[in-house]
Amino acid sequence: MENISLQLDKVYGFVSKETVMSYRAACEAAQSTLEKGDGKGSDFLGWLHLPSSISEPFLDEIQETADALSRRCEVVVVAGIGGSYLGSKAVTEALNNSFAQLQRKGCCCCCRKKHPVVLFAGHNISEDYLAELVNYLKHKSFGIINISKSGTTTETALAFRLLKTLLEKKVGKREARQRIVAITDARKGALRTLATQEAYKTYVIPDNVGGRYSVLTPVGLLPIAVAGYDIHQLVAGAAEMEKQCAQEFDSNIAMQYAAARQALYAAGKKIEILVNYHPKLHYVSEWWKQLYGESEGKENKGLYPASVDLTTDLHSMGQWIQQGERIILETVVSIAKPRQKVEIPFDQENLDGLNYLAGKRVDEVNKMAELGTQIAHVDGGVPNIKVVMPELNEYYLGQLMYFFEKACGISGYVMGINPFDQPGVEDYKRNMFALLEKPGYEEATKAIKERLK
Ligand code: PA5
Repeated sequence: MENISLQLDKVYGFVSKETVMSYRAACEAAQSTLEKGDGKGSDFLGWLHLPSSISEPFLDEIQETADALSRRCEVVVVAGIGGSYLGSKAVTEALNNSFAQLQRKGCCCCCRKKHPVVLFAGHNISEDYLAELVNYLKHKSFGIINISKSGTTTETALAFRLLKTLLEKKVGKREARQRIVAITDARKGALRTLATQEAYKTYVIPDNVGGRYSVLTPVGLLPIAVAGYDIHQLVAGAAEMEKQCAQEFDSNIAMQYAAARQALYAAGKKIEILVNYHPKLHYVSEWWKQLYGESEGKENKGLYPASVDLTTDLHSMGQWIQQGERIILETVVSIAKPRQKVEIPFDQENLDGLNYLAGKRVDEVNKMAELGTQIAHVDGGVPNIKVVMPELNEYYLGQLMYFFEKACGISGYVMGINPFDQPGVEDYKRNMFALLEKPGYEEATKAIKERLK
């Protein structure tokens, strides 16, 4: 079976192959540090060999929980934020029928089996969003997967309180318990305490796996299984990439990608734009942005991760990419073969002038847009890295996600930072708690109120 592949030839007009290769030793050292587990943040390396260590019985057990939820619920709400929702959101959006939400139950378009609609909450504090969600759920049979590693994240806890209250009111405490699953730390945090007290079904987020690397733990696997996608294939794809990305530089696309990004960064390319030509990949980009943003953006270093959905955004951001400040590189995630087939029809009148495309597939037009854009952007000073997925399915998404994770770990070590912590995320929380007068924040409350006078 083919694997995802990496193309770097459109980088070499900006930095030479020798320059990229000059990062080989640093990438190899980073890989060896990851393997030995003696680098910065080494308490958080549980993701490194996760794909090959997940057992089939464990996946079967998660599938059983998903099936049990599916039997009881037409809608399942996943409450989580950051790493506790982006992985499952990325996979389900990539695989969903684009119009699945308009159907009564979600539908996996290839097999027509019915599955619950999976919705997300706890990733914002918008009163309108929550009010609309609660109103929608009033008339649905629903369940909740509440995900928080710390068990104390305000956004998630707030959404869960609202959803739990509604669910218990609708179906009673006893039935609500059958429809709530908590995924959290093994021992600590408010969610663990609550789940123990209420006797919810629970899964553990391993101590050594950080949020943004957790898609292959129950954090990602359970919601993906509930949505009707094949978690065995997702893990199998990741396991295949784990093997490939453990090899030496010449056969290791994670090291090659890390080397190319570092060479371009050193040459002044400070922003990396992840590009897709299929809107289904929008949340894969959001997941990638968190992975690279939280991992690399520290100690005043790090490529700024951005993203665009093309060709849509060629009509909005295209001008900037083509002619704005020359500090960007782009990494295109390209899908070789679409899942569906649409041929452009011949039209006798040809008033739209499109008969020159008649008989072609829509994907041929999309591919020419992709090629034409690549040539234009390279001509305009934007180095182009290309990652090719043979098809959009669970197996290749598993490969893609592991590839990006591994490259991120390597890249962070080459940069000399700890790619597995996120100290900067705490700053806004401290201010928010002080402003909300949370118990324990009395001093901070006084100080911030002084500042606002
Ligand atoms: O990557 C991370 O660690 C963060 O994005 C967390 O996943 C996010 O802040 C949610 O945290 P928690 O799962 O503790 O609620």
